[in-house]
Amino acid sequence: MWRSVVGLTWKIPKWILELFSWGKSFKNNPLLGSHLLNRCGLHVARVILAHLLFRFRLILLSPLVSSVDRRAFIRNGYLIKRDFLSPGEFEGLSRELVNLKAPIREIIEGTTVTQRIFMDSNERKKAPFFQRLYSNKRLTRLMRYCSSKNRPPLFYIENLCNHANVNPRPDPQRDLHADTFHPCVKAWLYMDDTSDNNGPYVYVPGSNRLTWKRLKWEYRQSLESCRRGPERTPGRYWDGSFRVGAEDLTEMGYEAKKLYVPKNTLLIGNVYGFHCRGSAMKPSHRMTVWMQARDNPFNPLFTPFPESTARVFEWVWKKALIRIDQRKTKGGEQRNYYGALNRTDREESSSNT
Ligand SMILES: [Fe+2]
Repeated sequence: MWRSVVGLTWKIPKWILELFSWGKSFKNNPLLGSHLLNRCGLHVARVILAHLLFRFRLILLSPLVSSVDRRAFIRNGYLIKRDFLSPGEFEGLSRELVNLKAPIREIIEGTTVTQRIFMDSNERKKAPFFQRLYSNKRLTRLMRYCSSKNRPPLFYIENLCNHANVNPRPDPQRDLHADTFHPCVKAWLYMDDTSDNNGPYVYVPGSNRLTWKRLKWEYRQSLESCRRGPERTPGRYWDGSFRVGAEDLTEMGYEAKKLYVPKNTLLIGNVYGFHCRGSAMKPSHRMTVWMQARDNPFNPLFTPFPESTARVFEWVWKKALIRIDQRKTKGGEQRNYYGALNRTDREESSSNT
């Protein structure tokens, strides 16, 4: 009994603090998952406040990017920059990433094997082309603005092996969803051309903006997510990344779009907008430099020191990854090993042998 009292004494302040942070799990936090509080509008209030503060920070950061880019990002929820690097830089980077040997984290989603390398300062030392991309001023300015947090993102290399020879698991990435309740960005520099063969990124243009219909949908979803025990439908997601069905999408006046982009394209997406990984028709690969910048949405301000703050975030995230790795590898969810990314298609390898 004492143990549960002590546990609660520690947990209650944590749950309250989470209300004012990026906390989003209806399952793990009983305040966020409270039917009564959400009936009174807790979730919707968090959504509105987070969006107002996001727009406020964007106004302050507007000198960082052109008005054309600002308007496109706010209107559509994403920015596309083709031929982002010079041909020489892109070829060099491409060669470097294919040959890079580094710690790989591998997970299975559906029939896709996802391999990721966290490109911290140690890994960047081994990869001069990557280090130049990391310091690319144009990229930094775009990410500082779009994240609304004025800091460069965390960098990964992500390699998708579509239709790899694995036992399929549920694939949360193939359903249209919003990552969380507040605007935040992820970005990809494509190292491969995208097509229906390797699965393009799918985005619902305009779904990053709050409308009355979207707010009503958010309210309904928040009540649905408060269900407990056997009322929780298996296969549904209770972590606050709401999935959206075709009917609801039409009801809100949205239409999904496949973003077919050639290699050397930079795509920055506000992942509050609905998005998913498009279906891949063939065994194939899709490699990207993947970036993300998520921060407390309720902090009205941003750092005045972009570079040093990015270094602190990288250090903290590296520590957090150790704990996450331990949990995931222990549960059999993830495999960690040292080596190079897999770039050989099964079709290619079988025809080669
Ligand atoms: Fe997502």
